[in-house]
This record gives sequence, structure tokens and C-alpha cells, in this order.
Amino acid sequence: MSPFSRQCWHTPRGAAVSSAGASHRTRWPLGCRWGWLLALLHPFHAALADPPEPDPIRTVQTELEALYRARLPGLANLHDLARGVAALDPQVAESQAAMADFPPWEPFVADGEALWNTPFADGSSYAACFAVPTAAIRPGYPRFDETSGEVVTLDLAINACRVVHGLTPLRHGGEELNALVAFLGHAARGHAIAIPQPASAAAEAALADGRATFFARRGQLELACSDCHVQAVGRVLRDVTLGPAIGVAGRFPVYSLKAGSLASLQARFQGCFRVVRAAPHPLQSRAWRNLEYYLNAVSQGYPITAPGLLR
Ligand code: HEC
Repeated sequence: MSPFSRQCWHTPRGAAVSSAGASHRTRWPLGCRWGWLLALLHPFHAALADPPEPDPIRTVQTELEALYRARLPGLANLHDLARGVAALDPQVAESQAAMADFPPWEPFVADGEALWNTPFADGSSYAACFAVPTAAIRPGYPRFDETSGEVVTLDLAINACRVVHGLTPLRHGGEELNALVAFLGHAARGHAIAIPQPASAAAEAALADGRATFFARRGQLELACSDCHVQAVGRVLRDVTLGPAIGVAGRFPVYSLKAGSLASLQARFQGCFRVVRAAPHPLQSRAWRNLEYYLNAVSQGYPITAPGLLR
């Protein structure tokens, strides 16, 4: 019996209400007496209690935020990590600030806007597929779709809209899709990530899978995402400061100064898999959609700053 069950809270039927010593105590069911000790020892004792149900997004976020607080005790506001490496490396912050007046991603966002506003052959449009104002679209993705039982990223939602209206899907990681997502991210600047709560066991499993990918060691170097982006956050690897993983989902797609083009979050996963010499998954594979879901969940409430700058 759980020590949190009702029988443990109420005087057993027929028991003396006065604290009549031993005879009173023996009436309590066994589970009540030892249960308290077990509950204190059990790290998940809260799960034994009846509601309030833990919020799955808040749970993964709290876990990661605690790790960053321990690593970055000087950082007053964790939301500052939405700036990426610039939050930790003054040199990066300075060079990015110098680009603020003429941001190099501007033409790409303009391309995305033009694509977004081009009506489909059937007279419909992207905007008609999403039933919310443009600025509110990005904050709600990725989300778990109960019908398909899978995570839907913004890229997939855009392509689904195209298919409904008789158009071919855009190439994952391609210029057009990146430009559209960059436009929606830019339109949502100043808004916070606000993905819907997982509402089923399957949705929670997808979130848990993304979390597992983040903490799992892989590749010839046997390094997890967390090894570099949590344990070693702020340290310099070769000539690069290792950025945080929390809050940065809202920076994507980023504009890569080196490549001179936009790069999606999942393209970054590919890059980081290669860094540890692991074979990357295909773009929009289930594993990476779940990872994208997790990285947005831990960033819930953090500001959207897309498109971010990457060296
Ligand atoms: C060996 C260390 C290492 C590991 C392990 C690693 N990364 Fe990275 N990651 C980097 C480096 C270095 C960069 C910066 C790349 C650059 O500046 O070109 C980066 C950049 C990123 C960024 C961009 C951050 C921003 O604000 O622009 C994200 C997101 C990211 N990594 C996620 C991941 C994920 C998810 C994993 C696990 C699949 C992972 N990384 C594993 C080293 C690592």
C-alpha cells in the first residue's frame, strides 16, 4: 500500500481517536508505517502521490536548468543563454553586435517572406494552413501529433501544407525550406517558445527519446551532446567556445558566416554527430525530430531570436 493512500491519512475505522499508544499504532496498515521510510529514500517518491501530475516539459527543463546553474554560477538569468555562445564569450558577442545594423541573414528572411506570401496555384496559401497569426506559428512547433503518433517539426508542417494543396514537398535542409522557417522565426522574435504539452504516453515517450539521445554517448569519441554542451559549456575546444544547448533552439535556423547560408537545427545535429565521428541520421528522421522536440521543450519560455548567427 502506498503511504499516500487514503487509509493512511484517516484514522482506521473503529480505531480510538485518542493517541492510545501501541494498540493505536498496530491498527495502521503495514504499508503506511514502512512506506514513509521508503518514500523518503525513493528519489521518485513524488510520483507515488496522487495529482498534481508533474508537467513533462517542466520536468526535463528543470533537470537541465539545474545542470547549467551549477556550471555557470555567474550567470544571473538562464534566459540569456538564448543568445548562444555570445552569452558566454564576449568576443563573439562583440563581433555579432557589430553586425546588428546590417544583419547578413536579412536577404534570406526576405526570400522566406516572399515565398510565404506567394499564393498557391489553387488560390490558397501557407497562412491559410496555420490557423494562427504569423508571429504565433513558430512558438508552437515542434509538437506531437496524436493522429500520426509522431513529432511534427515546423519544416514538416510546411511541407504537409504544400502537399494538401497539390504541391511537392520542399527538400529538407534546402534553401527554400530554411528561408521559410527563418521568416517564421524572425516573425516570432520577442515571443517565447510555447510548444503544446505532451498529452499522451506516446508524446511523453517521444520527449523521453529526445532526452535519451541528448545524454547518450556515441561515435568514436564516445561523447554525448551533454558532454560538450553541458559539462564543458563555456570551455574552448580548439578555437571554438562550446555553447549551451538550452535556449538555443529559438536561434534556428542560424546564419552561418562560414558557409554564407542558413543552417537548420537538424543540420547542426549532423555537424555535431560528425564532430564525434558518429554516422548522422537523415534530416527529419524520427530520432532527430524527437531531439528537436526535447531541445525546444527545455527551452520552453525562452525567447525566439531566429535567425541567430553562427561563426
Ligand atoms: C565534441 C563536442 C560536441 C558534441 C559531443 C556535440 N557538439 Fe554541438 N557543437 C559543438 C561545437 C564545437 C559547436 C559550434 C560549431 C561552430 O561554431 O561551427 C556546436 C554547436 C551546436 C549547436 C549550435 C548552438 C548555437 O547556439 O548556435 C547546437 C544546437 C548543438 N551543437 C547541438 C548538439 C547536439 C544536439 C549534440 C548531440 C547530438 C551535440 N551538439 C554534440 C561541439 C559538440
